[in-house]
Amino acid sequence: MNGISQTLDPAIARSLLRELGESARAFRFEVAPNPCVGAAVLAGSKVVSRGFHRVWGGPHAEVDALRLAAESSVPQSEWDTMLVTLEPCSTTGKTPACVDAIKRSGIRRVIVGALDPDPRHRGRGLEILEEAGIEVLVDPVPSPLQDVAPHFLHWNDNERVRRPRPWTIAKWAQTLTGQLSPPEDIGGGRWISGPTSVAEVHKLRGRVDAIVTGVGTVLHDDPRLTVRPMGAPGLAVDPSNLSKGSPPPQGPARIVLDSWLRTSPTARLFEESQDGELAGPVVIVALPGADPIRRRALEAAGATVHTSRGMDRFTLDLRDLWSWLWSQGYQRVLLETGPTLLRNALDAGFVDQLRIYTGNVRGGEGESLAPWLTEAKLLERLHRESGQDAVLEAFLR
Ligand SMILES: NC(=O)c1ccc[n+]([C@@H]2O[C@H](COP(=O)([O-])OP(=O)(O)OC[C@H]3O[C@@H](n4cnc5c(N)ncnc54)[C@H](OP(=O)(O)O)[C@@H]3O)[C@@H](O)[C@H]2O)c1
Repeated sequence: MNGISQTLDPAIARSLLRELGESARAFRFEVAPNPCVGAAVLAGSKVVSRGFHRVWGGPHAEVDALRLAAESSVPQSEWDTMLVTLEPCSTTGKTPACVDAIKRSGIRRVIVGALDPDPRHRGRGLEILEEAGIEVLVDPVPSPLQDVAPHFLHWNDNERVRRPRPWTIAKWAQTLTGQLSPPEDIGGGRWISGPTSVAEVHKLRGRVDAIVTGVGTVLHDDPRLTVRPMGAPGLAVDPSNLSKGSPPPQGPARIVLDSWLRTSPTARLFEESQDGELAGPVVIVALPGADPIRRRALEAAGATVHTSRGMDRFTLDLRDLWSWLWSQGYQRVLLETGPTLLRNALDAGFVDQLRIYTGNVRGGEGESLAPWLTEAKLLERLHRESGQDAVLEAFLR
């Protein structure tokens, strides 16, 4: 690496970049499809702060590091260098462009671990910083993106960019034998996971643009699909993440795939929201031949009905649907549904990320997803606990 000033040992810079990349990886399931990024503000060789991109839609690592630096005892006039594992962004997305925050900070040198892999943005962030008189150095060795954020490279491959669709997280609860419905005498025939996991799911719902389900789940469970605070502080949507539509202030949209409009206009989806509950708009997706009388009844109940092409006369085409979801601004969606739609979405390759809760329940009703899971090619797998439940998180290859 040429040109790092004498005040910062290149070996220290490299090791710090490597450490930032590794620490940023801890947030991989929270930020995807965004990359894991870490940043540090330095004064000479002293690290003033370390920042990370911690949650999708939330501040980027550079902004987080600058915020923490401002809370430190080191005056801003002494900050001279920022290390960041990925080229700072130059466009406004869910949050304002990071290059502007860096320019405002008075930092004079930025050391970057990797260029933006998206050819539409690659190098642009560095150009803007250089135009502002900031020294820019690239050291691609310490934090290769293929190690810390392989999902991000896949997300930016040509096929996905050519045919955009939302990043899709499939979440389900299963019994020890892989069934999604417990035996009738357990959990009211519905609940497999415990209260800690249910609270986690509400938090996850607050971090997506839309929740997608199938009409089978609506008919069987009559769910609300809202974000509820669950009585515990910090579990509802974090207002600091509400910048520019992420998630929509009224909560994620609730999308029901319902070819023939079997959803009842009296379903709980249409009930008024309770205190602290974020209830997004209800969109029902049907085939063009669906009954117009049912359509009007659902519209009168508050739904928007969208008609979409079928793969055949009976089944909605998921490819068209996922493209449509993207066109509506839904960039990160949560698939919370039964085994029928889940299997189709998994087989079609539209699921990018998994969150699976396994409850301490034997047996169950319906198809087991255990054989599918045994064969699945999982990346970056994480096993953890949530109350009494075992949780598996992973990306799908
Ligand atoms: N454990 C969990 O995490 C969890 C989560 C949700 C639900 N569940 C359970 O799952 C059960 C319901 O599951 P389910 O499999 O019957 O229903 P589902 O997967 O929720 O919905 C399936 C229905 O969606 C409609 N659909 C429209 N387009 C589709 C497409 N391209 N591919 C697949 N489906 C499409 C179809 O009905 P039309 O042909 O009428 O459109 C289909 O029958 C309930 O027992 C519920 O309690 C468990």
